[in-house]
Amino acid sequence: MVLKGKKILLGISGSIAAYKIPILVRLLMKEGADVQVIMTPAARDFVTPLTLSTLSKRPVFTEPFNPVDGSWNSHVDMGNWADLMLIAPASATTLAKMANGIADNLLITTYLAAVCPVFFAPAMDLDMFQHPATQRNIQTLQSYGNHLIAPRDGELASGLCGAGRLEEPDAIVGVIRKFFEVPQSLAGKKVLITAGPTVEPIDPVRFISNHSSGKMGYALAAEAVKRGAEVVLISGPVALEVPKGLTLRKVTSAQDMLQACTEEFESSHVVVMAAAVADYRPDKAETSKIKKTGHKPVLQLTENPDIIKTLASMRLAGQFIVGFALETDDEVQNAMKKIDSKGLDAIVLNSLNDRGAGFGTDTNKVTMIHRSGSSLITKLESKEVIASRVFDFIQESFDL
Ligand code: PMT
Repeated sequence: MVLKGKKILLGISGSIAAYKIPILVRLLMKEGADVQVIMTPAARDFVTPLTLSTLSKRPVFTEPFNPVDGSWNSHVDMGNWADLMLIAPASATTLAKMANGIADNLLITTYLAAVCPVFFAPAMDLDMFQHPATQRNIQTLQSYGNHLIAPRDGELASGLCGAGRLEEPDAIVGVIRKFFEVPQSLAGKKVLITAGPTVEPIDPVRFISNHSSGKMGYALAAEAVKRGAEVVLISGPVALEVPKGLTLRKVTSAQDMLQACTEEFESSHVVVMAAAVADYRPDKAETSKIKKTGHKPVLQLTENPDIIKTLASMRLAGQFIVGFALETDDEVQNAMKKIDSKGLDAIVLNSLNDRGAGFGTDTNKVTMIHRSGSSLITKLESKEVIASRVFDFIQESFDL
């Protein structure tokens, strides 16, 4: 089931077509989706929150906070949580507010905060739908990358006939299902992915490491599995659920990671290194805990092997090697230099100057740079969506 476990934010606005939404919720739930309903105040005149919360098994939100206990229904948290936001029915007013960023209710603030793909299914009377204002708002939303689920022609609540009927719930579910269906475009290919930090011991108690959570690498691995690849994920220590359908090799230090990568490399078609490998390790890991002496301790460091550069030097025909770069200054120039110095086919640059990008976050914003110099910049999106953009880029660039 394609929708199993998919987190769907369902925004309902004020239109008589809202009476169809309990059926839509029921269908999404039957497919295994996790549905969070948000209603505009006007939507509550057409369908009850009780019906929707019973069917979705979650509280339904209209207000930014709970008036009884003051708890916050965070539009930012919901916008980051969802894999997809669907606004159905989208009334003329809601379309206008979405298009112009008029954030005067929870549905619109959540829409503006959402980092996931957004679908909207308008429903209104035919003249309202055909009005230039509505048509212009729809075009504006499409120019933002939002997906229109066009209304049907037919009998409307007013008794008139024409375009404006909300698409039927089963057809809406079909559109969403199709969106999540991923072609098995990497079937028969082996993809090697690294993720997380490396940990370099100082003594049995202390270590040198970095802030990588592994989220970006794990999202890449899950995406490669979805596309039908045989995936080996080589991961430094992280606290993440392991995606199903792949081989996980846990490592600790950069030297362990190099060893595991070297063993897997020859049979791999694509290598994507999202791990944050420590550039240095202590000269010597003490076997006993270092005691305080009252003097300033001196820690001698040795440079770690450059794993991706080592792999690139052993490259076989037809292998594609993609690095990640985390930069803070002269980002693009530094990333381009890494393509050359490490012998890469492409690099995915994320900058610590972009809020919500890089270490630890659930979102990222990247510039994907091909060795030819051509590049593609993404918006700030969930790491899952970025992972799919990275594989689209790799597959298009290298005709895979
Ligand atoms: O794990 P998250 O919290 O989700 O964060 C994701 C991330 C920010 C760690 C990830 O998106 C990222 O940018 N990973 C690479 C970070 C990094 O180490 O960049 P770098 O510029 O130092 O290294 C460039 C490339 O060389 C990387 O592909 C790296 O894996 C590789 N490298 C670096 C050093 C080394 N000794 N060996 C390597 O192979």
